Amino acid sequence: MSLIDADFVMGDDHADLTSHDTYTKGVPHATFARLRKEDPVSWIDEEDGSGFWAITKYRDIIDVSRDYETFSSRMGIRLEEMTPEETEARGTMMETDPPDHTRLRRLVSKGFTRRKVESYEEQIRELAADVVETAVAKGEFDFVTDVATQLPMKMLGKLMGTPDEDGDHLVELGDSLLGNTDPEFTDFVVDQMDTDEYRMVPFRSPAAIEVFEYARSQAAARREHPTEDIITQLLADTTDGDPLTELEFNNFFTLLVAAANDTTRYTMTGGIHALLSRPDMIAKLKAAPDDDERWITAVDEILRWTSVTTHFRRTASVDVEMRGKQIKAGDKVLIYFVSGDFDADQFENPYHFNIDRVSNDHMAFGRGGPHLCLGAWLARMEVRVTLQELLKRIDGIEQVGDISRLRSNFIAGIKHLPVAIR
Ligand code: HEM
Repeated sequence: MSLIDADFVMGDDHADLTSHDTYTKGVPHATFARLRKEDPVSWIDEEDGSGFWAITKYRDIIDVSRDYETFSSRMGIRLEEMTPEETEARGTMMETDPPDHTRLRRLVSKGFTRRKVESYEEQIRELAADVVETAVAKGEFDFVTDVATQLPMKMLGKLMGTPDEDGDHLVELGDSLLGNTDPEFTDFVVDQMDTDEYRMVPFRSPAAIEVFEYARSQAAARREHPTEDIITQLLADTTDGDPLTELEFNNFFTLLVAAANDTTRYTMTGGIHALLSRPDMIAKLKAAPDDDERWITAVDEILRWTSVTTHFRRTASVDVEMRGKQIKAGDKVLIYFVSGDFDADQFENPYHFNIDRVSNDHMAFGRGGPHLCLGAWLARMEVRVTLQELLKRIDGIEQVGDISRLRSNFIAGIKHLPVAIR
């Protein structure tokens, strides 16, 4: 067996990791492989004269994630620099460190536990079945626009108690937030035009203003008519601390709309894309009941294989040495989850897609630190249920056109995948 699966794109081994365009050709895995081997704590220059440390080994990424005192999230989690004033106004839970982070996280985490999320499985499955049925009836369709784009936001809406008919609009808003570097998703491409006017709102995007408005109206409705959903829970007074302030609620809602939307979409899509050329695995999954262990391992392998959140940034709070390199206070440090997930010191045969992989401690949701993805259980369930509902309705599936990929150095994903159903 070859060490690299036939459909796996290794890419350029000296790619510019900062360029959004690089990722339209796929994640440059060969560059990460070289860095892991030759220079795992590597200084990378940026065009504007600044630069950052790229951390590419699995173990080092965990060490950085864990040590939030040395590697802070307060100065931002993306490469883009923010002034302290912008950070204050735009900051979500992601841009805080403990103990501030602990308070916010405690307030919201109850809504996203495994048990809580599983209580929504039936509703989520119904939604998935509906969307998949409509797409499959067409015979040929774009898996991304017709299925994967439709579902995550509507699924999140079930937990939040937002009306189903608002789903499409929230998807559009979510797209312009995280897709703020791709002209297909926004008219305000951050690195191609002056977005200074929006520097005080999340993602430097006018869409965030609309999300704020929407959050405000939903909050007002819940205050008047409290329900069982997560929004009601977030607004309620708590015994273990102050409730969220209005700005915190708006920022958190915006964070959810951004974080839950395209990450899950691109993971589902990456999963189907991997399965397309592996009919034997489709057959195995079709034969597995919904609650079979194989579905759990398959979804985790899809998460590892796609690793859609390529990196998160931290900023060094003090001078620190790593693998002989002198990281200075104030330096940007990028932890490349997408590289850690293919580190051969952690994963046997990492370039091989294996739905039965065991001990798959991937870092698609982060690992080891306080910011581990809040939506991990929800996302896992969404991917599993969507694939289950699709595979139940088809005998086979094939790609019938070219794929295209998102223009972003932050989120990697296939944004169009034309398929035909057998
Ligand atoms: C497959 C889909 C998803 C992937 C790959 C993903 C990935 C990630 C990653 C890598 C982080 C940062 C981890 C760290 O810094 O240690 C994160 C944080 C976060 N994610 Fe997700 N995510 C996904 C889906 C979701 C969903 C569905 C939600 C909605 C509830 C969500 C909400 C969040 C939030 C709120 C945070 C910030 C947590 C914090 O700062 O404490 N994510 N996610």
